[in-house]
Amino acid sequence: MRDFGVEFLWGAATSAHQVEGANTNNDWWVWEHEIGTYAAASSGDGIDHYARYDDDFALLASLGHNAHRFSLEWSRIEPAPGAFSNATLDHYGRVLDSLHHHSITPVVTLYHKTLPRWFADRGGWTSRDALERFGRFAEVVGGRLGGSIAYACTVNEPQILPLFGYTVGRFPPAKTDRGLAEEVNTVLIAAHRVAVDALRAGDGAPRIGTCLQLVPMEPLDPEDLDDVTTTAWLRRLMVDSHIDDLRAGGDVGNFVGLQYYTRARIDASSPTLIAPPRAGVETTHMGWEVYAPGFGQMLRRIADAGLPVLVTENGIATNDDHQRVRYIASHLDEMRRAMHDGVDVRGYLHWSAFDNFEWNHGFAPTFGLVGIDRADGFRRVVRKSARAFEHVARTGEVASLRADDGVCERSR
Ligand code: BGC
Repeated sequence: MRDFGVEFLWGAATSAHQVEGANTNNDWWVWEHEIGTYAAASSGDGIDHYARYDDDFALLASLGHNAHRFSLEWSRIEPAPGAFSNATLDHYGRVLDSLHHHSITPVVTLYHKTLPRWFADRGGWTSRDALERFGRFAEVVGGRLGGSIAYACTVNEPQILPLFGYTVGRFPPAKTDRGLAEEVNTVLIAAHRVAVDALRAGDGAPRIGTCLQLVPMEPLDPEDLDDVTTTAWLRRLMVDSHIDDLRAGGDVGNFVGLQYYTRARIDASSPTLIAPPRAGVETTHMGWEVYAPGFGQMLRRIADAGLPVLVTENGIATNDDHQRVRYIASHLDEMRRAMHDGVDVRGYLHWSAFDNFEWNHGFAPTFGLVGIDRADGFRRVVRKSARAFEHVARTGEVASLRADDGVCERSR
């Protein structure tokens, strides 16, 4: 019996800087090439997806995907303030055509972590005209590409930059200032609304949403006042402020994206504010705890926003593909249960379609359903987990995955 309806969206996600290659005009490229940052490697050629998108989408279609999330690289579209590149907009037009040609529903992110250099140099999201600039970019995208976009994600994880870029200084612009973090968080909440208005004025009628990474958080030591107050501050910054804004009314879009990976224990004395997982728990290549019940909790929490939910990211970096299958199975099971309890989930996009550039960690963590042999001309290597996922996408049944290795052995 089907666990998910025939209309359900099944697919995977990427972002421009992580796969395209040669995105030399954004703040991350600068970060990767500066001495003394946390970046382990350059994104370099990525996985050469800018050139290979059509073959890549043909492959994903053959793996049963009926939806795909990718992002537009703002620094390519607007390489200098107000100067929009027609050639780049045409490129993304062809990318969208290719998805439609392969019967894949496009889910398009406007801003996924990278900022044009000129925007970052003016102070990024703290500059006075940041929202106006972003609104203009969204307007151009809506006007030129809106008619081909089924789902538009305005801002990817508006809470992660305030944490990693402005609180713990691990991402550009490497600030450690909680006041600024709150300011940027507020601006990014507003950026979503600005983009909604801009896209509504454009071509077509994309369904629009913001994409929140929700992390269940607990103080490392419930008796430690610093841990307790820092946890409360982070919950407000990263969860409550965003959900409250979506509930506040006005046009906040048509759906909300949920991205879920792990839970966290908050240690106020750690430079990253995050304690390592408890000894003995299952972890991923990133050192994150595998904790499927947290996915169910966050699906129920995000439902408070009062919008249909699209899972826009969920996945695992691992060298053990059987672990990936188990991760998918346990998380889809949680999703099925949350839906049974009334959470209106419309689709699931796994992170990621391909192994890719994992920010400060470079290419070492492998998140892909499809691996990339970088030593052999970026050859795409279909993993057994991709076949297992295909089975779910085609049948709408998660039960088969519980057999874990069985599915892997049976698959083509
Ligand atoms: C981001 C992705 C990233 C993934 C795994 C999310 O925070 O949107 O860009 O690769 O998590 O870290």
